[in-house]
Amino acid sequence: MTTNRTLYLIACAAPPARRLSVPIKAAQQAGWDVCLILTPSAHRWLTEDAEGEMEALEQLTGHPVRHQYKLPSQPDVLPPPDAMLVAPLTNNTLAKWATAVSDTLALGLITEGIALVPIIALPHFNDAQAAHPAVQRHVDFLREAGVTVLLGEGGFTPHKPKHGNLDAYPWQAAIDALPA
Ligand SMILES: Cc1cc2nc3c(=O)[nH]c(=O)nc-3n(C[C@H](O)[C@H](O)[C@H](O)COP(=O)(O)O)c2cc1C
Repeated sequence: MTTNRTLYLIACAAPPARRLSVPIKAAQQAGWDVCLILTPSAHRWLTEDAEGEMEALEQLTGHPVRHQYKLPSQPDVLPPPDAMLVAPLTNNTLAKWATAVSDTLALGLITEGIALVPIIALPHFNDAQAAHPAVQRHVDFLREAGVTVLLGEGGFTPHKPKHGNLDAYPWQAAIDALPA
């Protein structure tokens, strides 16, 4: 087992964000020190719609859960990453990431991260969202840039609208795809 490597888990506002203890525990078992970063929308879900969740996740990871940029005068509170897992990846963050928008901490980390560390991305969106013509282009673009996007066979398959199955979200495929 590898030890002492830091994984940034970056979670967007899609239903699997309600189950972040699952990938955190799995990555920890694989030897990763996990730091959790949320998009502002995911942070809202976990603070306004889930009592005690943030405290539980901070206790589980042993790190503050971050969701916004620090001020220039403030120190970094997380260790530097060796890899990143973006899961769940929303349609919204996918589009912004592929076009290098970095107006949230999550996007800032993953836009820069392409040049710095291995990144695995596990999307979660329905097949109507996936049918937008820009989506496949964004996925192709990120793959060409070196990001492992687990969409389709061996990863996440978009569901019919309103028919998502949280139990079927393939967290383990993302953990298995992390660097050895
Ligand atoms: C109940 C609910 C479920 C949602 N599920 C998804 C989803 O599975 N995939 C997705 O791309 N967006 C989903 N959205 C929309 C995103 O939350 C929305 O686009 C948000 O702006 C994403 O912000 P973020 O990418 O910064 O996290 C959902 C919204 C709600 C309210």
